[in-house]
Amino acid sequence: MAFNDLLLKALHKEKTERPPVWLMRQAGRYMPEYMEVRKKVTFLELCKTPELACEVTLQPIDILGADAAILFSDILIPIEPVGIDLNFNPAPVIANPVRTQDDINKLRKLNPESDVPFVYKTIDLLVKKLNVPLIGFSGAPFTLACYMTEGAGSKSFIEIRKMMLNSPALFHSLMSKLTEDTIKYLQAQVSHGCAAVQMFDTWAGILPPAEYKEMVFPYVKEISENISAPFIYFAKDGSVYFDTIKELNCAGIGVDWKTTLIEADKKLDSKFTLQGNMDPAVLFSNKETVEKTAKDIIEQGKQCAGHIFNLGHGIMPQTPVENVKHLINTVKGL
Ligand code: CP3
Repeated sequence: MAFNDLLLKALHKEKTERPPVWLMRQAGRYMPEYMEVRKKVTFLELCKTPELACEVTLQPIDILGADAAILFSDILIPIEPVGIDLNFNPAPVIANPVRTQDDINKLRKLNPESDVPFVYKTIDLLVKKLNVPLIGFSGAPFTLACYMTEGAGSKSFIEIRKMMLNSPALFHSLMSKLTEDTIKYLQAQVSHGCAAVQMFDTWAGILPPAEYKEMVFPYVKEISENISAPFIYFAKDGSVYFDTIKELNCAGIGVDWKTTLIEADKKLDSKFTLQGNMDPAVLFSNKETVEKTAKDIIEQGKQCAGHIFNLGHGIMPQTPVENVKHLINTVKGL
C-alpha cells in the first residue's frame, strides 16, 4: 500500500481532499486490544518493552484506521533516568519531588540514546512497519515541571506556582534544564524516523497570560526552533494565550474545544495548520451527534490555513470504541 502522507501534506499547508485524522491518546484503555496487552505488564513496563509498545502503537492504525501513529510512551518517561522516582497508579506519582536548588542540581542531564534506549528501539521497529507518518512527542517543560514539583497530578499545581512567585531563579533553572533535555530527546526521535513531533503543554492553561508569556513561552519557542521536523504545539486551555503563541514559527498548533477553529485561525493570523478540536465527551453520545459535530469541525477547518482533525484533548477511558470508529470513518468520508 502507498504511504499515506496526508498528515505531512497538511502540516506543510498543502491542499488535501480531506483532513488527516488521528486522536490524542488513541492507544489506551478504551480499547479491549490495549487492555489485553496491558493485563500482562505494568504501564511503565509496557512503555519500556519495544515489541509491546510497538504493538499498541499500531492498534489504532490497524483497528481504527487513523492517518498517523503516535509513539506509545508517556511525557514523564525521560524524567525518570535523570533522577526522578516515577510510578503510575494509573496517574503519575513521584516519590522525590523537586523543590529546591539542591534537588535541581542533583538531576543529571539526559543522554537520550543511552537513558531511554527503548524509546528509540520502539521508533526503529515502528518506522519499518508503518505506512502512515509516526508522530514523536514530549511534554513541554512547564507541564513536566508541574509534575516534578508537585509529585503527583493536581488541579492547581501549587508547588510550581509557589516556585514561580517566590523563587523565579529556581524556576528558570529547572525550565532551562528541561528545555535542554527536551531538545535532545525530540531531535533524537526525529533522527530515528519520526516524521513530526508534538509537544504537550497540558497544564500551561493554569497561568495568567502575562506569566505564561514571560516565564513559559520563551522555552516553548526555543524548543520549537531546534527541531528539524514539523512541530506541533498543544497547550490545553491555551486559546487565551494565542496572541503570544502566534509568535511561534512552527507548523501546527493544537486547539482544544473551548474555542472554535475559525476563531483560533483568526487569533493566530492564519499562520498555522490547526489540529483539533472535537470535545472528547462527544464520543460518549451517539453516532448522529458524533457525525454532526465532526462535520461542523471539518467545514470550519476548510476555512483555516490548514487542518488536522483531532480531539481537543485525549480520548478518555470508557469511551465507546464504535463511536471512535464512526468518527474516523466520518472524517475519511467512509
Ligand atoms: O496518545 C497516545 O496514544 C500515546 C500515548 C500517550 C500516553 N500519555 C499514554 C498513557 C501520550 C501521548 C501521553 C501523554 C501524556 N501523559 C500527557 C499529555 C497529554 C494529556 O493527556 O494531557 C500527560 C499529562 C501525561 C501524564 C499521564 N500519564 C497521566 C496524567 C496519566 C494518568 C491518566 C490516565 O489516563 O490514566 C498517565 C498514564 C497514561 N499515559 C496511560 C496511558 C495509556 C494510562 C496508563 C495505563 O494503561 O494504566
